[in-house]
Amino acid sequence: MFVTFEGVDGSGKTTIMEALACELRAQGHKVCATREPGGSALGKSLRELLLHTETKITKRAELLLFLADRAEHVATVIKPALAAGQVVLCDRYIDSTLCYQGYGRGLELNELRFLNSVATANLFPDLTLVLDVPIEIGLKRALSRADSSNTCRFEQEALQFHAKVRQGYLEEAAISPRFRVVDASQAFSQVLASCRAHLLSHLASC
Ligand code: TYD
Repeated sequence: MFVTFEGVDGSGKTTIMEALACELRAQGHKVCATREPGGSALGKSLRELLLHTETKITKRAELLLFLADRAEHVATVIKPALAAGQVVLCDRYIDSTLCYQGYGRGLELNELRFLNSVATANLFPDLTLVLDVPIEIGLKRALSRADSSNTCRFEQEALQFHAKVRQGYLEEAAISPRFRVVDASQAFSQVLASCRAHLLSHLASC
């Protein structure tokens, strides 16, 4: 099973995903917990470039770097883990590209859908949990956890950019059955319980 976690910066998906990975392992599942950008060996260098470079990057170059990261990640990490029967939990995937580079930066959505399918050789998640939180709350969390000298290029974007990204997730979730939207402004235990319920009900149906 391949599950992705999505949401605006500071939505809490990384912490939730780590907690669920521990629970699944404790239940005897083999779990591969990974992330984008940066889940492969090549990806570690691309992540640094994508999130922390001071060099200005055009939106198409940025897009292609995220896609290169994804292509490598799918081929060297995600597909082998799925083939070995592991549950793959991935912090960000194709929908981050649609929402950040598409809804956020304004690149054409259908072009991005096509390029995502090229990068992944058509590997789509079975389930996508969108942790939805008002952007002011998300950004406050993201900026408070980041060392102020180390905020990423996206956290520095204007509120309007993040509002478009959030809207993108909600629109995508409304048109595809693989999404579940979880209210991530609730207490951590409640967010975790909702995500766990979606994950277990999906696992049971596999
Ligand atoms: P990360 O530190 O992983 O952020 P978070 O902890 O909030 O998930 O940084 C990833 C950043 O990269 C995040 O701001 C979203 C952005 N991103 C894209 O713009 N497009 C993509 O395809 C991916 C995977 C991430």
